[in-house]
Amino acid sequence: MEGSFMLQKIQNALANIVYPTQPEGLYEPISYVLSMGGKRLRPTLVLLAYSLFKPDWEKAMPAAIGLETYHNHTLLHDDLMDNADVRRGMPTVHKKWDANTAVLSGDTMLLLAAQMIASAGVGRMDEVNALFLKSAIEICEGQQYDVNFETRSDVTEAEYIEMIRLKTSVLLGCAAKMGALLADAPAEDCEVLYRFAEKVGLAFQLQDDYLDCFGDQKTFGKKIGGDILCGKKTMPLHCALQRLNEEEGHELLTLLNTPASAFCACCGTSPEDEKIQRVLSIYRRLDIPAVIEKRIEDFYAEARKELDKLSVDSAPIWEYATSLLGRKS
Ligand code: IPE
Ligand code: IPE
Ligand code: MG
Ligand code: MG
Ligand code: MG
Repeated sequence: MEGSFMLQKIQNALANIVYPTQPEGLYEPISYVLSMGGKRLRPTLVLLAYSLFKPDWEKAMPAAIGLETYHNHTLLHDDLMDNADVRRGMPTVHKKWDANTAVLSGDTMLLLAAQMIASAGVGRMDEVNALFLKSAIEICEGQQYDVNFETRSDVTEAEYIEMIRLKTSVLLGCAAKMGALLADAPAEDCEVLYRFAEKVGLAFQLQDDYLDCFGDQKTFGKKIGGDILCGKKTMPLHCALQRLNEEEGHELLTLLNTPASAFCACCGTSPEDEKIQRVLSIYRRLDIPAVIEKRIEDFYAEARKELDKLSVDSAPIWEYATSLLGRKS
């Protein structure tokens, strides 16, 4: 309820940002990506966390839209790294323009984000800025592990969890803690909110991995099977390997590591789709969707335990977090 009102305010604030018009090739892709929609999860967490401590949450808006700008910066670079052509149902920046554009407009968004966050001017700003920089560095670490894992076949589940904690969870933790810091909340509550959102973030990335396999491209807005084509070591793969014997596991990894070009295009499907369907049929046979759903519930139970330690009423942020359960986009 509160979340949807905030969402409208976030959309307005993003729409009201005036970017320089020149050079067009730098700023046009920024307006493009920020007007494409998206769930606005991170700014919502900033505002909700702030509002748990103080009612005037609009004061946290500059930092909230700064964090959304930062998130979109990661998407420009991530899509280039993941060779992804579609996001939010639209061509990605490196497809619509080119790789140089994704790099430079992406860099600019990172700096604009830091500028917006630094301009917030409420609460404990030194801690806010330090938190943002630390989180952004950790996200680079996570992205590097994600890439390293593409060419490894021995990635453990623990390594995977640490990788998604870095690439995805720390930004949700940062958003929730940032909202609390801006509201000048007690230090222990700031930490509780970080750990809570970090657990929600792990569940969030599991759902993303799940949707990359079993989602509907129209709703999800990204190409189904993109992770399989990149050889990503995602949660569906870990769950599948745990349910296969050594020989079957080896076969699955060989299938995943075989370039799509080696597959035969038959019955009107492309070699890429042939590879994707072969992997997905193994996941389906092993009931992977249900296994992942259970893992997501477990992370939510851990998130709930953290939130119970908060010194103020946590209902609005819990309600919002649980609204993400079973998301399709
Ligand atoms: C995409 O984030 C990147 C991940 C961490 C999975 P979102 O799923 O929040 O993307 P948008 O902003 O809603 O499009
Ligand atoms: C998201 O990982 C992490 C970041 C963007 C930092 P993914 O590569 O799974 O995200 P999507 O699926 O492209 O949105
Ligand atoms: Mg990606
Ligand atoms: Mg990626
Ligand atoms: Mg993904």
